[in-house]
Amino acid sequence: MLNIAVDGHSSSGKGVVCTRLAKKLGVIHFDTGAIYRLIAVYVRDNNIDPRDQKAVEKALAKIKVDLKHNDGEQITILNGVDVSKTIRDNDISDMCSIISPYPKCRDFVLKIQRDSAKKYDLVMEGRDITSHVLPNAPFRFFLTASIDVRTERRYNDLIKKGENVTYEQVKADLIERDRRDTQRELSPLILTEGTIYIDNSNMTIDEEVDLMYRTIKGENK
Ligand code: C5P
Repeated sequence: MLNIAVDGHSSSGKGVVCTRLAKKLGVIHFDTGAIYRLIAVYVRDNNIDPRDQKAVEKALAKIKVDLKHNDGEQITILNGVDVSKTIRDNDISDMCSIISPYPKCRDFVLKIQRDSAKKYDLVMEGRDITSHVLPNAPFRFFLTASIDVRTERRYNDLIKKGENVTYEQVKADLIERDRRDTQRELSPLILTEGTIYIDNSNMTIDEEVDLMYRTIKGENK
């Protein structure tokens, strides 16, 4: 199977880049953050306190995940309901970095990730794909951009969606999510040896996709 592993900070643009890269390669785009987000939607909608680890872990038994992949896009289904839009709510982004360190949540997602990587050619993106989920993937990338560029991107997305946020608030939220993702004990976001680091602050999406595509096809030597 052709497995391409991609990690990166929040709002590094990895979603859109991986969607396009997967399309260009004709493989599945597997967004693993969507599964953590789906758990957060269940937790929120069932009035479970995200900081109550036991309650969150107990809820996993009631969660059924189905993912459908179509032309680079992923459809995320929670207990038979399409939640692909709901998982992008701003409160879900925040809640998700609270529940994602819980060991049982990580095991729950890990099983889905590894089963899929065995079955399909894919671009899998997340926070621990290069370091923990698929450390032996033949192509591994770490995507990021400066905090100001990422804040600008996220702020514009949220304003477009009609959310009432300030630039400073968005920046503070991103800094806090980075802290939680990089400093947690279990599978933190880290840059591992042999993983290709791309800072896309000054790159267009097309340039970045092209760089990754040419690297995979061996055209960058
Ligand atoms: O990539 P996205 O922003 O959708 O991920 C949402 C959250 O899910 C991240 O902030 C992180 O806490 C968690 N996550 C993770 N491991 C992954 C993917 C996402 O912990 N492989």
